[in-house]
Amino acid sequence: MYYSDELIEEIRMRNDIVDVISSYVKLQKKGNSYFGLCPFHNEKSPSFSVTPAKQMYYCFGCGEGGNVYTFLMKYENFTFVEAVKELARKAGISLPEQEMTGEQKKAADVRTRIMEINKLTAKYFYHQLRSEKGRRAYEYLKGRNLEDATIVKFGLGYSNQTSADLYQYLKKQRFGDDIIKESGLITYSEKGTYDKFRNRVMFPIMDVNNRVIGFGGRVMGEGEPKYLNSPETKVFDKSRNLYGLNNARLSKRKYILVCEGYMDVIALQQAGFTNAAASLGTAFTSQHASLMKRYTDEVICTFDSDGAGVKAALRAIPILRQAGLSVKVLNMKPYKDPDEFIKAVGCEAFEERIQQAENGFMFEIEKCKAEYDMNDPDSKTKFQQEVGRKLLVFEDEVQRNNYLDAVSREFMIPSEQLQRLVAAAAITENGAIKRERGEIKSIAGRRKPQESGLQKSQKLLLTWLCENPELYKKISKFISKEDFIDEPYSAIASDVFAQIEQFGECNPAQIMNRFTQMEEQTEAAAIFHTRLQGGEELESRDFAKALEDTVRNVKLHALEEKEKQEKDLKKVQEIWKLKKEWKTKKLQF
Ligand code: UTP
Ligand code: MN
Repeated sequence: MYYSDELIEEIRMRNDIVDVISSYVKLQKKGNSYFGLCPFHNEKSPSFSVTPAKQMYYCFGCGEGGNVYTFLMKYENFTFVEAVKELARKAGISLPEQEMTGEQKKAADVRTRIMEINKLTAKYFYHQLRSEKGRRAYEYLKGRNLEDATIVKFGLGYSNQTSADLYQYLKKQRFGDDIIKESGLITYSEKGTYDKFRNRVMFPIMDVNNRVIGFGGRVMGEGEPKYLNSPETKVFDKSRNLYGLNNARLSKRKYILVCEGYMDVIALQQAGFTNAAASLGTAFTSQHASLMKRYTDEVICTFDSDGAGVKAALRAIPILRQAGLSVKVLNMKPYKDPDEFIKAVGCEAFEERIQQAENGFMFEIEKCKAEYDMNDPDSKTKFQQEVGRKLLVFEDEVQRNNYLDAVSREFMIPSEQLQRLVAAAAITENGAIKRERGEIKSIAGRRKPQESGLQKSQKLLLTWLCENPELYKKISKFISKEDFIDEPYSAIASDVFAQIEQFGECNPAQIMNRFTQMEEQTEAAAIFHTRLQGGEELESRDFAKALEDTVRNVKLHALEEKEKQEKDLKKVQEIWKLKKEWKTKKLQF
C-alpha cells in the first residue's frame, strides 16, 4: 500500500458509513443500528445492518460485512486503492500524487495489479486487430455486420497466433510471473508458458464501472471450443457480472434485455437496444438478478429460442422474480438468437416482439402444460394441481389473485376451481413451501463456512469486547490477547486489546483497514458481528453464564494449542494441571 495508514484512517473517519451506504441502500433506523435490504443477496426482509458506533456494515443473512472501504470494493467492484481515492474525493481530501516505484508496485494489492494487466491486455489485443496480422479477424467482425464504431465501443480485439506474444509483452511491462499467473491469461505448464488466447477475436468483459475483468475469445469460423473465456480470478466472478451491463445501466429504456451471448449484446446495442446484457452462457444466479435490480425493475428474457434457451429462461424466471424484478419472455422464433433476428428482419420487428413479450409466469405455465396430455382427465387434473401449487409463489394475495384470474382465462380453468386448488396446495404443500424457503436461505448463507465452536467463542468474545469495552476489566484477569490462537482472531485481538488499553474503547472499522483483500475483510467483519444462537442478547444473569463459558472455551483452546507445541514434558504437565483447573474453575467477574 502506498498511502500511509494515518491517511487511510483519516479518509475513513471523514466518511460516515451511514451517509455512504445510504446513497446506495435505503436504510431505516432500528435501535443503535440501521437496517435495509442487503444489496449482496436477495431478501425480502432486511438483515443488512449498518452500525454507526462500529462504523461497519454486516449482513446477518449472507455474512458480507466490513467498513466503508469494503462496501465500495464489493458494491462498485473497486480495488482498495480505488475505494480510497473515491472516498478521499468525497471528503475533499487531496491525495499525494505518487509515482509508484517498482517495489511499491509489487506491494500494491493483487486486484489492482490484475486489473492493470487486463487493461494493458485489452489495449494490446485492440492494436493487434488493427495490424496486418489482425486483418482476417477484422474482416470476420465486418462479416458479422459490425460497424467500426461498434468495434471501438466494445473494445474488440484479436489475439495472434504466436504462442507467447502476450506473455512476452507483459514481462516487458515488468509484471512478475506470480501476478501474471493470477490474471488467468497465460497457461503455465511443464511444456512451457503460452498465451491462453491464440488466433481468436477477443471480447473484453467489463464490469459496471468499465474496468476490464476478463476476456472471451471466439474462433473465426468453425472450431472447438467456439468461445474460450478467462477463468475466474480475484477480479472476475462470473456469477456477479453481466456482459454489457456497463452500457445497459445507462440506457434510457426502463427495462433490461437479458440474452445469452457476446454477439447478441453487441448486435442489440448496435441496433439501438443499448439496454442489452448477457450472462455469457453461465447459469443465471441470484447475484446476477440483484445486480440488475440496482438499475431496473423489469427484465425481458431474450434467450435463444432452442430447447436450451427455454430451459435457461425457466431457470432464470424464478430467480429474477425472487429479486423483485418483473419478468417477461420474448419470442424470437423462427430465429435462433437476437443477433440472427436483427440481421434477418431488423430492429423494428424486434421492437414489435418486445411489445408482445409474454409474462414470465404465464410462460412457465405454458411450458408446464406442454408436459401434460389435456385429453386425459388424470393428466389434466395433475396439470391443474400443479398450476395451483405454482400460484403459491406469490405471497401477496392481491398479486396472486390477479395471476389466478389471468391463468384461469388463458388456460380455461374455472376460477373457483383454481382457487380451491390453490387452497389445497397451500395445505398439502406447506412443508414443501417451508423447504423451498429454507433452500433459498441456505443459498444466501452459503458463503458462511461451517465454523467450530472454538472459533465461535473467540469471535463472540471479540464482538462483546468491542460492543462493551467495560468487559475488558472483568475478563483481562483471565484472558490475554495471546489466548486468541487462530488467525485472523489473533491479529484482531491484538488490536482490540491494544485499543481498549490505550483509549478505553475499540474502533473496529479502523482495525478493518488492516485488511485490503476482500475475503479477509469479510471474515474480519464477522468477528465484530457474532451473536449467540438465537440472535438476541441475553438477560444479564444468562449473559454472565455465557461469558463464563466463552472465556473458558477460549482459554482451554489456547492451552490445548500450547500443549501441542510444547516439547518439554515438565511444561506439558503444567499445562495439564492448568487445563484441569480451568475445566471446573468458577470465574468471578
Ligand atoms: P452460443 O453458442 O449461443 O453462441 O453461446 P452465440 O452467442 O450465438 O455465438 P455466435 O453468434 O455463434 O458467435 C452463447 C454464449 O455462451 C458462451 C458464450 O458466452 C456465448 O456468447 N459460450 C458458448 C462459451 O462460453 N463457450 C462456448 O464454447 C460456447
Ligand atoms: Mn449467435
